[in-house]
Amino acid sequence: MLSFRHIGGYMDNSCKMPRHIAIILDGNGRWAEQRGLPRFKGHSKGSETVREIVDHCDKIGIEYITLYAFSTENWKRPKEEVDEIMRLLRKYLDELSKYADKNAKITVLGETEGLPSDIRGKIMEATENTRNNTGIKVNIALNYGGRQEITNAAKRIAALVKRGELEPEDITENLFEKFLYTKDMPSPDIILRPGREKRISNFLLWQGAYSELIFEDILWPDYTKEDLDRAIDDFKHRNRRYGGVK
Ligand code: IPE
Ligand code: IPE
Ligand code: MG
Repeated sequence: MLSFRHIGGYMDNSCKMPRHIAIILDGNGRWAEQRGLPRFKGHSKGSETVREIVDHCDKIGIEYITLYAFSTENWKRPKEEVDEIMRLLRKYLDELSKYADKNAKITVLGETEGLPSDIRGKIMEATENTRNNTGIKVNIALNYGGRQEITNAAKRIAALVKRGELEPEDITENLFEKFLYTKDMPSPDIILRPGREKRISNFLLWQGAYSELIFEDILWPDYTKEDLDRAIDDFKHRNRRYGGVK
C-alpha cells in the first residue's frame, strides 16, 4: 500500500492511501428538516451511513477511522435530541462489540465520566470485547472536545511535575501526545467534514496540525462510499509539505 515513487529526486506520495481518516459527522439535523421530519430522523439515517462508511473503509484497507459523534458542546441541544443520539450510540456500540462478524477494534475518545453510566458500561464492554480484533480501528469521539483534551493532558502532566515525577524539561511534543486520547495512533491524514460548514468545531486540534482538510456540501445522511472514494482520490493528489519544500 505504501507506494512512494521517486520523480526527479523528489519523493512523490501521490498514490499513497491514507492510514487514518477522521470524519465530522454533520448535517443530520438539516437533512431531516429539509424533508419536514423531526431532527432525530436525521440522526438515525446518519447512523446507517456510519455503518456503510465504516464497512467500506475496512474493505479498502483504511487502518483507523475516527468519527466525531458527540462534542462537549452538543449538550446545549434539546434533551430529546441528546437522548436520541445516546440511544443510537448504545445501539452502535452493542452492534460493534457483540456481533462476531465485525472485526473492528473500538476506542472511545472523550470525557467518558460525563456520559450516562449505562453508556460507560457499554464503552467498557465494547473496548474489552474488541481488544484483540484485527480489523479497522474505529475511534468514536464521544463527549469529545479538542480544548478539553489538551487541557486535561496539561493537568495530568502538571500533577506529575508537582509530585516530582517529571521535570518541566521532559515535556516534549512526543510526551504530550502520550496524554491525549489518541496516544500511540497515527495523526489523521484526512479530516473530512460533510454538511456544508467549513470549520473544525473543536475536533482533533492537536492531532490535525497537518491533516488534509476536505469539506463537502453533501449532508452526512446522503454521504456514500463513492463520495469517500472521491475524497481519498483528492487526498492522493495533495502535496503534503509539512513546512518543507517539495
Ligand atoms: C450531526 O449533525 C452531528 C451531531 C452533533 C450528532 P447535526 O445534528 O449537527 O446536523 P445539523 O448541522 O444541525 O444539520
Ligand atoms: C460538530 O458538529 C460536532 C459533531 C459532529 C459531533 P456541530 O453541528 O455540533 O458543529 P457546529 O455547531 O456547526 O460548529
Ligand atoms: Mg451540525
